[in-house]
Amino acid sequence: MKVTVVGAGAVGASCAEYIAIKNFASEVVILDIKEGYAEGKAMDLMQTASLNGFDTKIVGVTNDYSKTAGSDIVVITSGIPRKPGMTREELIGINAGIVKTVSANLIEHSPKAIIIVVSNPMDTMTYLVHKTTGLPKNRIIGMGGALDSARFKYRLAEALGAPISDVDGMVIGGHSDKGMIPLTRMATRNSVPVTEYLSEERLTRVMEDTKVGGATLTKLLGTSAWYAPGAAVSGLVQAIANDQKKMFPCSTLLEGEYGLNDICIGVPVVLGRNGIEKIIELNLTEAEKEHMLTSSEGVRKTNGLLDV
Ligand code: LAC
Repeated sequence: MKVTVVGAGAVGASCAEYIAIKNFASEVVILDIKEGYAEGKAMDLMQTASLNGFDTKIVGVTNDYSKTAGSDIVVITSGIPRKPGMTREELIGINAGIVKTVSANLIEHSPKAIIIVVSNPMDTMTYLVHKTTGLPKNRIIGMGGALDSARFKYRLAEALGAPISDVDGMVIGGHSDKGMIPLTRMATRNSVPVTEYLSEERLTRVMEDTKVGGATLTKLLGTSAWYAPGAAVSGLVQAIANDQKKMFPCSTLLEGEYGLNDICIGVPVVLGRNGIEKIIELNLTEAEKEHMLTSSEGVRKTNGLLDV
């Protein structure tokens, strides 16, 4: 199993690190345009191998796509991150051009690869990869919901005063401050709905804190977060590599599901060796359907800025 991560910034390096530590890939190639940067990150990570006990070979390259050839899975993290006060949507001008070029280069050298898109605005970048590569929809996956769900579980655990391992929950919709839909109605603590323990007011706070999860960190860190994004990507990569048939909310092209068409947005999917093997249609309430529609309108507005 060969995995390429494009972008040796904080998110890309964190993806590579978590993938290596989980020890399921034979090789991870990190590619960056900054001379020597990916090589440096790869060497530093390789020097953790004996300490952390992994055998994955990590290779760093400066813009040399020939070294990525034959990758089974490719992850696109390239582009500029958010600065405090910025929305993910504001990044589109610069990131669209980068994502378009990067995905074309990757597919030229790894025509069978499954693509995971992390660059923001993520749902729109996933849609752009669809439009420009023409790959089948099961091979294009946008990473947002897995991260947002991890942040949701963190906030739920905090509100419940419970360990995170007791908590389950999922966020669907667009990967944006306004577009995320934390499904509080379906969230549980050890199979018991959290609505049994938390007031509507407290749950609203959990929802609001989840939705601004990325923005809160951007404000604290001065740039966007990397540990949880990296860990979320590594979970998706592992589910594909090990054919786990695991369910995650991911951005995928909808063709009628949830009443939506010609849009990439977060919904639960099953991930296995063929990428997105199934789209799960949840039985949403009228209010949740309304949220999904509003969220999709936000994503469409950003898609409208694309030149495709
Ligand atoms: C975040 C970025 C990765 O939510 O979108 O932290």
